[in-house]
Amino acid sequence: MDAHCAQVPVLPHQNPEPRLSHHALRSSRLRRSALATGVAVTLATALLAPVAAEAAPRLTTPAAPDIPVANVKAHLAQLQSIATANGGNRAHGRAGYKASIDYVKGKLDAAGFTTTLQSFSYNGSTGWNLIADWPGGDTTHVVMAGSHLDSVTGGPGINDNGSGSAGILEVALAVSRAGLQPTKHLRFGWWGAEEYGMVGSKNYVNSLPSSERSKIDAYLNFDMIGSPNPGYFVYDDDAKLDSLLKDYFTGVGIATEPETEGDGRSDHAPFKNAGIPVGGLFSGADYIKTSAQASKWGGTSGKAFDACYHSSCDTSANLDDTALDRNSDAIAYAIWTLGTETAPPPGTSFENTADVSIPDAGAAVESPIAVTGRTGNAPSTLKVGVDIKHTWRGDLVVDLVAPDGSTYRLKNSSGNDSADNVIATYTVNASSEVANGTWKLRVQDVAAQDTGHIDSWKLTF
Ligand code: TRP
Ligand code: ZN
Ligand code: CA
Repeated sequence: MDAHCAQVPVLPHQNPEPRLSHHALRSSRLRRSALATGVAVTLATALLAPVAAEAAPRLTTPAAPDIPVANVKAHLAQLQSIATANGGNRAHGRAGYKASIDYVKGKLDAAGFTTTLQSFSYNGSTGWNLIADWPGGDTTHVVMAGSHLDSVTGGPGINDNGSGSAGILEVALAVSRAGLQPTKHLRFGWWGAEEYGMVGSKNYVNSLPSSERSKIDAYLNFDMIGSPNPGYFVYDDDAKLDSLLKDYFTGVGIATEPETEGDGRSDHAPFKNAGIPVGGLFSGADYIKTSAQASKWGGTSGKAFDACYHSSCDTSANLDDTALDRNSDAIAYAIWTLGTETAPPPGTSFENTADVSIPDAGAAVESPIAVTGRTGNAPSTLKVGVDIKHTWRGDLVVDLVAPDGSTYRLKNSSGNDSADNVIATYTVNASSEVANGTWKLRVQDVAAQDTGHIDSWKLTF
């Protein structure tokens, strides 16, 4: 093969078959026969068709809907009315909090969610978390979004955090309207008493046995997503969740900045502390927007993202509709993408057959493979097929380099390993690595005299 097409992703549904594992070959035949029976496979014909021994994986995921910002604002108008009718706030222990919970719960119950009120006691008052489960999906893989529903006592808390609460509520209602049948199990949470130190979310996480915590694949937090002088901050924590949320903004041409300052400042903290991957969005609180930020996002530099943060003026007028809209759409994108994720067909290989000569007792050389089209992390059983021609294999140190630069030693040098060539398949636990990106085989010859070259190598997912 010439250097032009040295890096070839060999997908199971393509030729050339000799490269495929038996497993991949089997699914490729299944796929081809499914195609032969017609492109438009409706649910009804799928049910009537003979049941294949192995279900063909769904190849496309349903597109996330555009969340109507008017609906999000209608929820916020209700929360504002609740505050107005209850002494101007929706704080823990006050009537406005319970009324807020009842409003959200009523919408979810009517939409077919299974809701649970979890009560706790703090500061001499009862507080509540509301948990809403969308029936179905694999309950051993839970995708969760959450927001605190309480305000401070000094104001109605419409941006902090009616905004996140209304955003995830409307995304949950969109799940219901779409009749979404996610592969994973979807759960939404509204937390009480965040303003007293994440009391509700800590209670929730503490109430989960470790066997339930480990089923949560992702927790996404939304606290202040409609700031009137907005920034677009993406929690910089878990690489996959971070890049997923950033993807949405990249797609609509909006620059983002990483949010790290908030690590301990909202309800993702107890989840993160329990070892659950977390992500989230934030449009800024009392920090001042810089001129660089104003040039990329608009708005007013030298002014806080939310000058009404924790004040009585955090009303339904304290919102930027565009930020609220974009962030709500981003939540939907994340829930749809994570919730409908399917395991990609096993056995996909990516190969580089370009020769790379290995200098005698010289510097390390590398051969790249660009992996594309994978969701999530690499498997715990990533197969690394290595074909190195060399006249004394003991000279060679061989590493796999992941896209982020982490290295995995495949083979050490050895003074008494006198055979030719390294032709082997290594199994690497690469489950902490994002699959997509450029992987490298790094080979160094550490002893004089014998030489050789990388003939080819291949990654099988
Ligand atoms: N409720 C949070 C707080 O009062 C709001 C907040 C401030 C925040 N900075 C943050 C939330 C950073 C997430 C990230 O602390
Ligand atoms: Zn908040
Ligand atoms: Ca040598």
